Amino acid sequence: MTSVLSVSSEVFPLVKTGGLADVAGALPAALKPFGIEMRTLMPAYPGVVAKVGASEPVHRFPSLFGGPAMLLSAQSAGLDLLLLDAPHLYERAGGPYAGPGGYDHPDNWARFAALSRAAADIGLGAVPGFAPQIVHAHDWQGALAPVYLAFEDAPKPKTLVTIHNLAFQGTFPYGVFPRLGLPPEAWSIEGVEYYGSVGFLKGGIHACDCVTTVSPTYAREIVTPEGGMGLDGLLAGRGEELVGIVNGVDTAVWDPRTDPHIASNYDANDLDARRPNRDALVDEFALDVEDGPILAVVSRLTWQKGMDVLAEALGSILDAGVRMVIVGSGDRLLEGAFLAAQARRPGRVGVRIGYDEALAHRVQAGADALLVPSRFEPCGLTQLCALRYGCLPVVTRVGGLADTVIDANFAAMVAGAATGIVFSPLSVEALQGAVQRLVTLHANHDAWRRCQIQAMRSDVSWDASAARYASLYDTLLSQEN
Ligand code: ADP
Ligand code: GLC
Repeated sequence: MTSVLSVSSEVFPLVKTGGLADVAGALPAALKPFGIEMRTLMPAYPGVVAKVGASEPVHRFPSLFGGPAMLLSAQSAGLDLLLLDAPHLYERAGGPYAGPGGYDHPDNWARFAALSRAAADIGLGAVPGFAPQIVHAHDWQGALAPVYLAFEDAPKPKTLVTIHNLAFQGTFPYGVFPRLGLPPEAWSIEGVEYYGSVGFLKGGIHACDCVTTVSPTYAREIVTPEGGMGLDGLLAGRGEELVGIVNGVDTAVWDPRTDPHIASNYDANDLDARRPNRDALVDEFALDVEDGPILAVVSRLTWQKGMDVLAEALGSILDAGVRMVIVGSGDRLLEGAFLAAQARRPGRVGVRIGYDEALAHRVQAGADALLVPSRFEPCGLTQLCALRYGCLPVVTRVGGLADTVIDANFAAMVAGAATGIVFSPLSVEALQGAVQRLVTLHANHDAWRRCQIQAMRSDVSWDASAARYASLYDTLLSQEN
């Protein structure tokens, strides 16, 4: 039995703003068959303690970044949780990272340094009966854990940092350094110093035993100046210790045969049973009834996701005979642009601003294709759900999108391997070209069906990737300190 502490700032189904929560929520169950016992540390944000039901204090911090705190042990949704209960840091309005006005909490450095400090302490034996052999930290919010451990002179666990998105690095002014509780020598290239600022992710990448990211292509992209967002040199320096492991999705939650959120359950052998879901989507979004494809977006509406390019190309996409469904929230200007398009072209485009899990399922089951035109995409989960639901992904050739979708080019069609449409670069012209290809493919009923069936056969489960994490843990544990 290998014992691992996973450290994450969000965990599905308790708190979620994006794919990180899905991954942190799914990993423990996926790793169990490999003899890995994973406990998950996350902050006790408002409502979390009530949601998990019974919990028990297992460690107290007399003072943790400005106030008393404790660790609560709880079981919920199949997860073995340690909740960091620190009201002075987490008990407040808004989301995990930002207040109700949308601005980051000003003390995020302390909120997540505290999470990392707690993780390091657990690694050093703070919780009776739990001695993790590995501390596996996710993103910048957990990345100081290996840094704290690196400066401890005691037997300690191996450490791993997973990068879910290099765009968020946890960089703070020098002034926070003296308050982190790190020794003075941590203010260096070997520690958290990053161009005169404090870099949480930078420090973690440097200090940990191994770095992973969430797809092989993203692992290659981030060692280049174009994709490395300033950390390419450091990442390249890690050589073989930087590993790309693609995410999976929870195939029990995302299963068109049993999905309780959709009008009609179906599988690859009975695609006619998918039709009522499409009709329901047309109704729900008051779309025109006609033959052309319905192309959907379920996404944060941001620059990373290429939504500005979509906004620019939207008129011409609708003119090409495509109807669009857009579900998401994010950048206020983009939300406004899509709502304005809906007002201008009702019946051609339907928009829902907001976050709605059940609606995401209805869209995946009802739309013909899912557009993910990301500028960069460490892995991406929505295209995996789309594959499973026979909703053909139309994606840019970046990161995990490039690793999980097989373009319907001539060779792939002949080989019966195609599962979607892949285009590059991200530009209005290339997007229009991809949409043209979509319209042509959709008009060829047999070819379309073949792609749908092949998409639904793709392995989007955690099985293969969990095996890779398990073998990485083994490798780490076999190494001398
Ligand atoms: P990211 O984490 O960069 O936002 P991912 O594709 O990895 O992108 O994960 C996004 C997750 O959030 C998926 O589970 C997706 O279904 C979900 N999601 C995104 N936007 C919405 C929305 N508006 N409503 C419901 N689910 C959404
Ligand atoms: C980040 C990335 C996304 C990835 C997710 C889970 O949010 O933007 O590509 O799928 O993390 O790893």
